[in-house]
Amino acid sequence: MQINSAQKINYSQKIIELKKQKNAVILAHYYQRPEIQDIADFVGDSLALAKNAASTTADIIVFAGVHFMAETAKILNPKKKVLVPDMDAGCSLADSCSAEAFKQFRQLYPNHIAVTYINCNAEVKAQSDIICTSSNAKQIVASIDKNQPILFSPDKNLGRYLMKETDRNMVLWNGACLVHEAFSFHKVLQLCAKHPEAKIVAHPESDRQIIEIADFIGSTSAMINFIQKSEAKSFIVGTEAGILHQLKSEAVNKEIIPMPVQDDNACACSECGYMKVNTLEKIAACLSQESPEIILQEDLIQRALLPLQKMMSLSN
Ligand code: 13P
Ligand code: SF4
Repeated sequence: MQINSAQKINYSQKIIELKKQKNAVILAHYYQRPEIQDIADFVGDSLALAKNAASTTADIIVFAGVHFMAETAKILNPKKKVLVPDMDAGCSLADSCSAEAFKQFRQLYPNHIAVTYINCNAEVKAQSDIICTSSNAKQIVASIDKNQPILFSPDKNLGRYLMKETDRNMVLWNGACLVHEAFSFHKVLQLCAKHPEAKIVAHPESDRQIIEIADFIGSTSAMINFIQKSEAKSFIVGTEAGILHQLKSEAVNKEIIPMPVQDDNACACSECGYMKVNTLEKIAACLSQESPEIILQEDLIQRALLPLQKMMSLSN
């Protein structure tokens, strides 16, 4: 539901007061609505958000992102109260990989170690050997002995990209991000013909054909960084539309063209419905009621922390 500017100001003021009163911090992913990014204490990609959650001294973390990100914050900083604006903020990748199915997958490959993308639930993390994000995945896979077979879950597109980049074979889980799989290769080619000078910048969750023609592939933070530093003036950007808000302030004077999707929707760019369930109204309500809260069993926190700590120790 769209809200008007007066309502935005009211909710924002309420959130700022509650944050101060309760010593709370708001962490937001780049895919959040612009007005949420504007009131957040920190906006970043999955890795930067996890690092921030692990080191915050606030008493309450409000996680404006999706459920697996808030769970990760709780695992990394279990003494803090972690709130989410909406428990239904899921993820197609996390949903594709249940703990039971993942257990069976591992049993099929007893000699493989499991490198798992952070976009998964806490129990899948607990069953993994090491976690990665799109920022550090190459570094993490490359750190593993070449003779050691690997299972990579749950994103087949990121997995395939890593196999090419690190020149090794991995057994891949068959999951995908619906937002990054929605891009139309055909429409991207048409755009390239119209803007031959534009650089194609894509997230590694994108489909193989998009990855093959991209000039730069990286996490959301890496994409912003590349666009800022590049001498090029025009960019076709293949990730969730929320990133456009940051690019407006971080890449002034650059032409940003959102990568088009297959459906002819109004903006023709790709939006994550899960990320967009969060609103200023829900953030104000969750801070005021201190609910919904992420609650995890102590034993699960301990088991899921180990593969996350391994990732953190390899991420500079
Ligand atoms: P990063 O935040 O690592 O760029 O990943 C994007 C994403 O899809 C998060 O759900
Ligand atoms: Fe999951 Fe894709 Fe949405 Fe990220 S953008 S939360 S990977 S569905």
